[in-house]
Amino acid sequence: MTRWQQRLHDAAQQRAAHAAKRTLHTVQRREGARVWVDDRELIDFAGNDYLGLASDPRLIQALRDAAPLGVGASASHLVSGHHAAHAALEQALARWLDAPRALLLGSGYAANLAVLQGLLGRADHCVQDRLNHASLIDGARLAACALHRYPHADAEAAERQLARSTGLAVLASDGVFSMDGDVAPLAALADACARHDALFYVDEAHALGVLGNTGAGSVAAAGLGTAQVPLRLCTFGKALGCYGAALVGDGELIEHLQQSARPYIYTTALPPALAEVAHAAVLLAQGADGERTRLQENFARLRNGAAQLGLSMMPSATPIQPLLVGDNAGTLALADALRMQGFWVGAIRPPTVPQGQARLRITLSATHRPADIDGLLAALAQATREAAHAH
Ligand SMILES: Cc1ncc(COP(=O)(O)O)c(C=O)c1O
Repeated sequence: MTRWQQRLHDAAQQRAAHAAKRTLHTVQRREGARVWVDDRELIDFAGNDYLGLASDPRLIQALRDAAPLGVGASASHLVSGHHAAHAALEQALARWLDAPRALLLGSGYAANLAVLQGLLGRADHCVQDRLNHASLIDGARLAACALHRYPHADAEAAERQLARSTGLAVLASDGVFSMDGDVAPLAALADACARHDALFYVDEAHALGVLGNTGAGSVAAAGLGTAQVPLRLCTFGKALGCYGAALVGDGELIEHLQQSARPYIYTTALPPALAEVAHAAVLLAQGADGERTRLQENFARLRNGAAQLGLSMMPSATPIQPLLVGDNAGTLALADALRMQGFWVGAIRPPTVPQGQARLRITLSATHRPADIDGLLAALAQATREAAHAH
């Protein structure tokens, strides 16, 4: 064995020993919450398509209509790839979030790298919630700044870290936490930033389209705007059902990022046709009050049903409804049992969540019918009963 083969072998053995191997399942077809996977029909409770837009016929038609634009942007934005479709999408996003400007990026992951690398250097500080998404942690690493992580949702601890930070600081937080579903204490964090002259950045990946009036996100839902939160991330791959992302906020900040953020500068622009589809999705999401009401009804139904079964869901008032299990193998076994009964639920394990906090991540969509949720609850009841017997 070469030394490289030995390293790969050891890593694979470690994953197997800790039930940490991730398995890829191939989707053949998707219609709302129904998916055909590995030749079986399942109801999807694992995705982030909260409004059901990923397979919405109106967006499929928008994609057809945009086909004459071609399949690629042909260059990065600042060279020759910036298209009128990109400009129109940026304007629509800025209007929606009531901010001066928006800047498109390839993905939410790239956008989080862009913000922190573009704003922070070695002498600076990034203060982050301990449960922030991996891309925010990676962004701070790319910036080579000092990274301070405060206990989850603890605004006082965040403020103490800001007070200790000499030099410039960004406080970055998920708006809705991706693996927990709870909402950050945004007003308290904004106050702490104001007191310490720190820049507040909120990742709206799981809040856009879901929270706030017209679905404008967690910042809007908290009664805040660009004055308190000068920069926000919008991803298109979750409630908007598409792909790509944008930073939305203060004009000078956006201008600075456009000039300096490497994940913006050194990459090909989104295909203009996809920008057209994302634009259509923005307009649909703004008007999706009916879907937002259905989402709320759906997660209320799940929570009530789970309580009747004696299952304690983690506290969350968003479509992300995790059920804490603890160990990796037990979580995987539950997810497998649910899949056998026709329900697809994410088995989330470390390093995505802290050690010992593996969980089922159940996500709701407006396309779930009451019978889908009742079916999942019955399957959960059976799977947890069988798991208890097996112990
Ligand atoms: C909180 C959060 N931020 C950023 C991202 C990355 O977004 P994207 O999927 O557009 O790369 C994700 C999900 O993947 C996320 O959950």
